[in-house]
Amino acid sequence: MKRITDLLGIQYPIFQGAMAHIARYPLVSAVSEAGGLGIIAAGGLSGEELREQIRETQKRTEKPFAVNLMLQMETISEQVEVLITEGVKIVTTGAGTPRPYMESLKQAGIKVFPVVPSVKLAKKMEELGADGVIAEGMEAGGHIGETTTMALIPQVTQAVTIPVIAAGGIGDGRGMAAAFALGARGVQLGTVFLTATECPIHDNYQQAILQADDTATTVIRKAKGGALRGLKNQLTEEHTNDAFSLAALERAADAGEIQQGMIMTGQIAGLLTQVKPAKTLIEEIFTEAELISKSIKID
Ligand SMILES: Cc1cc2nc3c(=O)[nH]c(=O)nc-3n(C[C@H](O)[C@H](O)[C@H](O)COP(=O)(O)O)c2cc1C
Repeated sequence: MKRITDLLGIQYPIFQGAMAHIARYPLVSAVSEAGGLGIIAAGGLSGEELREQIRETQKRTEKPFAVNLMLQMETISEQVEVLITEGVKIVTTGAGTPRPYMESLKQAGIKVFPVVPSVKLAKKMEELGADGVIAEGMEAGGHIGETTTMALIPQVTQAVTIPVIAAGGIGDGRGMAAAFALGARGVQLGTVFLTATECPIHDNYQQAILQADDTATTVIRKAKGGALRGLKNQLTEEHTNDAFSLAALERAADAGEIQQGMIMTGQIAGLLTQVKPAKTLIEEIFTEAELISKSIKID
């Protein structure tokens, strides 16, 4: 199997997870420029807004970056057209099946990596012609499935022949080495990149993550299905439908509303104590993972 770095033309097998409203060009270009894979979150953007994000990213880096499509968005067809015409080469997908867009994406030479929470969906995506899958465990921040990363990754890597990227709960080189030990060929990190210097979120949001401990997050569930992980606060306590809205995330990310905003973050927040440039985060994690992979002893 080709290495993920060779397949995508990146230096490190580290993806910056798409984060709605947050993963915009300042963070995306910093991650890609540092040798990881920056991913623009298209969720909530019109076609023209996505075009602007792509162009601003291209101005800042010539290295590969991706766009994450949330497939249930109304603007999805427009977004697909825009990313093809703007020359985007890698797409990740969430919230639904990429089936209706697969042919046009593949015809445009785009590599497609759907995010999946289960073996069943991973297999479906392989059948559809996906180039790899991002298997995300329920430790992750944001919308989550039911299975933990530790249990999900070995089951997905056993079930498919395409490369598997592990996501959910990876916070340092130890987590990255563990993911590779379970058969993953790359990792996707969201929560870690919320602590990047270049991450365009309110200081209150970033500080809340740095101060979080191992039990600081909770999962809120919709009656009709769908679960969301974020920091425990008044909003998650009240558990209204509003907590699931993009507006609730915006209140946290833009206005720094710590109690009434949705502070989406994963369980690994408890490990993170410092804001660092994306380049430092990536290099430290990769170097530590390499070191561990050479020195691990089972005795
Ligand atoms: C604030 C936030 C917003 C997110 N938004 C999206 C999104 O729009 N699309 C998506 O596919 N995943 C989204 N995710 C999931 C991340 O891309 C990533 O897979 C996840 O954060 C990995 O787990 P970790 O947080 O433990 O590192 C989001 C995560 C966070 C923390």
